[in-house]
Amino acid sequence: MNMGLEGKTAVITGGASGLGRETARYLTAEAARVVIADINADAIAETLAELREGRAEAEGITVDVSNYEDCQAMAQMAVEKFGSLDVVVAAAGIARGTFFVETEPADWERMMAININGVMNTNHACAKTMLQTGASGSIVNIASEAGKVGEKRMVVYGATKGAVIGFTKSLATELGRNGIRVNAVCPGVTKTPMTAYVTPDMEAAFTKFYPLKRLGLARDIASTITFLASEQSSWITGQAISVSGGFSRC
Ligand SMILES: NC(=O)c1ccc[n+]([C@@H]2O[C@H](COP(=O)([O-])OP(=O)(O)OC[C@H]3O[C@@H](n4cnc5c(N)ncnc54)[C@H](O)[C@@H]3O)[C@@H](O)[C@H]2O)c1
Repeated sequence: MNMGLEGKTAVITGGASGLGRETARYLTAEAARVVIADINADAIAETLAELREGRAEAEGITVDVSNYEDCQAMAQMAVEKFGSLDVVVAAAGIARGTFFVETEPADWERMMAININGVMNTNHACAKTMLQTGASGSIVNIASEAGKVGEKRMVVYGATKGAVIGFTKSLATELGRNGIRVNAVCPGVTKTPMTAYVTPDMEAAFTKFYPLKRLGLARDIASTITFLASEQSSWITGQAISVSGGFSRC
């Protein structure tokens, strides 16, 4: 199936690891060009080396998504290097499993700064650039099942991801008239460096709650993001789509 992504330019925050890196593989396999935007410069270099080895067109930029000027620079880079900005994947995020009463205000502020302010910075800087250049396109924000149903030890994380879902739905109502679609993907527990703490015993316990009886793989999420980035989903906007083996069913 031709996804219609050839020659499109995608900015991927958190693109140097896990779900973001897998999405870069999927998008470049469809002949899209990618800007890998991440806080980890070494991981960006590794990711670019892998993508370019496969003859993909890829550039990298070190950004902290909690900094608005960094997000402006990454949006500008897409246009300067590749001539357009058509797809945005906001995957940068952090997680920490701790009971709420054991956390401190500084922990909440950091998580809010990256997981929700970072998504807003990314969406604002990129949407402005898309509007200025007249590009239609697709924005995909990575939320979480924790933002839909709530999870123990993920209280502030769940709050940030719930905020991403609400933000995505509202922004979709503003940008639709410009031909820019905005959706969220809500993964269940998926095997990436973020979830490297999950032991086989924990995995066995978690999978009991998943109707499909397994945890997610990065490709499960990347294939959905690629679909949402592409013209194949041209009448889908404002949705928060769970990709989680049936975990939440809402
Ligand atoms: N893996 C899961 O089970 C799971 C489940 C639900 C949602 N998510 C969400 O998916 C997204 C990707 O997670 P992942 O599993 O690929 O994790 P990951 O840790 O493998 O990748 C996250 C990437 O974000 C980057 N990053 C962190 N802070 C940043 C900042 N301030 N600025 C720029 N980049 C920053 C990291 O360097 C890393 O490359 C996150 O938003 C996460 O909350 C993951």
